[in-house]
Amino acid sequence: MTPFSLQQYLSLEQREHGLDPALARLIFGISDACAMIGSKVRSGALAGVLGLAGTENVQGEDQKKLDVISNDIFVEAVARTASVSGMVSEEVDHVIRVPDELPVGPYLICFDPLDGSSNIDINVSIGSIFSILPAPRITHDVSDADFLQPGRNILAAGYCIYGPQTQLVLTLGRSLVMFTRDPATGTFRLTREEVKVSESAKEFAINMSNQRFWEPAVQRYVSELLQGAEGPRAKNYNMRWIAAMVAEVHRILQRGGIFMYPRDSRNPDRPGKLRLMYEAAPMAKIMETAGGAATNGLQPILDIVPQGIHERVAVFLGAKEEVTRVTEYHKAK
Ligand code: AHG
Ligand code: MN
Ligand code: MN
Repeated sequence: MTPFSLQQYLSLEQREHGLDPALARLIFGISDACAMIGSKVRSGALAGVLGLAGTENVQGEDQKKLDVISNDIFVEAVARTASVSGMVSEEVDHVIRVPDELPVGPYLICFDPLDGSSNIDINVSIGSIFSILPAPRITHDVSDADFLQPGRNILAAGYCIYGPQTQLVLTLGRSLVMFTRDPATGTFRLTREEVKVSESAKEFAINMSNQRFWEPAVQRYVSELLQGAEGPRAKNYNMRWIAAMVAEVHRILQRGGIFMYPRDSRNPDRPGKLRLMYEAAPMAKIMETAGGAATNGLQPILDIVPQGIHERVAVFLGAKEEVTRVTEYHKAK
């Protein structure tokens, strides 16, 4: 039997678990955006989408052409669903309102339209990340304050990875499921259900080039991993760094591990590199749904109440045992 399509999955969720049709429509709109971005990614230089856009985003980072293209695709596809009252994107400094001529709906969405930008031009995996919150007001006049909700409020979260396969990974809160895009028909089909992340790990991911800037808790934790079978952890660990959180999370969901992007002293005013609302919180929701954990070193990422839509945060996520240990080291200092 051909596996379930995303559309069939969402219909079943509506019938059996009362999924709101407006939320189903929004998720379907996101999957359309991802399919369009995926096709640009696949064409690369042939579609003229590689290289720099010549602009900077609110974070002061150079925007790649594909960052800008993916953002525009997301904004348009989401606005057309009539399911949201507003959007927050990594690539846009202010909240994005729904155009007056289109209807608004009961949800808010935060997204990183293209994660892993430094991988675009070298043909390595990249992705898109999103999380969906309830809208406190159904209005065209949405403000930053409407978005400043802790990750515990997230109703649905997911990412799409553009790698050897295009896969959409989704949680509506109860379980984590994976869909693979069928290149022949363009349909996303269910290929994994009830995804769980193992509690222990033997693989870690961190950008080691920043080691001299880390805090003592991270120095201690990583040095113990590096000591392998001869050290206090009494086993050997492997290391990976893809430089796209989507790809690191995807690997951890398949074969376990821990991912870290700690706070560091390169930029003491910055509590981390990754952004809370459209990178860390959706991935934390995914990890917790799959039985893993995600903290900023001190508290669960989902408990943090954002102070700003582009706020940054330190991230430790993946296998529960490992995340708990590195969090304890932070608390012990
Ligand atoms: P983005 O491309 O959306 O700016 O995000 C990239 C992020 C994250 O996905 C990745 O883990 C990290 O930046 C890589 O950072 P380094 O280049 O510092 O390793
Ligand atoms: Mn990103
Ligand atoms: Mn991005």
